[in-house]
Amino acid sequence: MDMLRDADIDPTQLAGKRVAIIGYGNQGRAQALNLKDSGIDVVIGLRGGSGSTNEAEAAGLRTELIDAAVASADVVMMLAPDEIHSALYREIEPHLKQGAALGFSHGLSIRFEFVEPRPDLDVFLVAPKGPGTALRSLYQQGKGMIGLWAVENDATGRAREIALAYGRAIGCGRAGLIASSFAEEAEADLFNEQAVVWGAVPEILIAGFETLVAGGVSPEVAYLECVGELKLIAELIEDRGIAGMREAISNTAELGAFLGGRRIVDDGVRARMVDILADVRMGRFAAELKSEEESGYARLERARRDARETALEETFERLNESEN
Ligand SMILES: NC(=O)c1ccc[n+]([C@@H]2O[C@H](COP(=O)([O-])OP(=O)(O)OC[C@H]3O[C@@H](n4cnc5c(N)ncnc54)[C@H](OP(=O)(O)O)[C@@H]3O)[C@@H](O)[C@H]2O)c1
Repeated sequence: MDMLRDADIDPTQLAGKRVAIIGYGNQGRAQALNLKDSGIDVVIGLRGGSGSTNEAEAAGLRTELIDAAVASADVVMMLAPDEIHSALYREIEPHLKQGAALGFSHGLSIRFEFVEPRPDLDVFLVAPKGPGTALRSLYQQGKGMIGLWAVENDATGRAREIALAYGRAIGCGRAGLIASSFAEEAEADLFNEQAVVWGAVPEILIAGFETLVAGGVSPEVAYLECVGELKLIAELIEDRGIAGMREAISNTAELGAFLGGRRIVDDGVRARMVDILADVRMGRFAAELKSEEESGYARLERARRDARETALEETFERLNESEN
């Protein structure tokens, strides 16, 4: 494994350079504040009338309209939602300095050709492996979040050094920066979102809850069993790995997990995982993401509304009320 840490990285590669962060959302806010605290000259590029201007300025950051921020920058980081990267890049391309660096925190836009950068640009990836809120809080605690890095185009001969200095300045070098590629990061991330942690895990929690309630168990007990214990297992896995987690639980739980886990995650599940990976690689998901944006996020809005109206959510609200 090719993993680099702070001591392996030259931070001076960003000295005297200005970084424009486009977007002040989950990643934009965290990366901008970490860069600023690492002594980097940062400007936030926002659209006209953006509701984020006041918040960014209150945090001590300089803001500009996107075109002006891009025109003044040596490194431009695309931290607006992936599905608008095509339109955003078309808007900023005429303003990018010759030989500037264009950075991403997800490989999707390059892997699936939402963005085809000008050949004079360095194009790099620094993808922290977790949400912006955690990236920021870890940095403030003197720790960091592990990240992947890659270079797609090395126009100036310094793209590698810029990518690594950027990853170091946002705190990823404290935990480790692993060499990857835009394609590997994009495909693995999209696969995980759909087939594992973000897609399948919540669905299995919901299915477990609904099975117990249909079997006569009270919603509160079903919730505590099927959803409430997730954080405990996640912490055990983070501290000890999966084998270590299993050794840390009772023999009863361990035998149940051994016998039941494989009845649920059977060959059919594995075959559908292979299908999802193939769909991702063929660009089917990237096309869905674009059409979702073009439809004004109709499907996502409906899914959000429906999810709020389930028995599981009502139980979550009731349990939280009784806790407060
Ligand atoms: N979410 C994560 O934790 C995470 C983790 C790893 C990687 N990433 C990657 O990081 C990138 C950013 O994701 P994110 O979740 O941080 O995005 P996000 O929170 O949805 O980004 C919101 C920001 O984008 C701006 N924006 C939205 N639409 C825009 C438009 N049409 N023109 C200009 N600006 C626009 C918003 O502007 P206003 O302020 O004006 O509304 C806001 O400042 C993506 O490539 C994502 O895959 C995200």
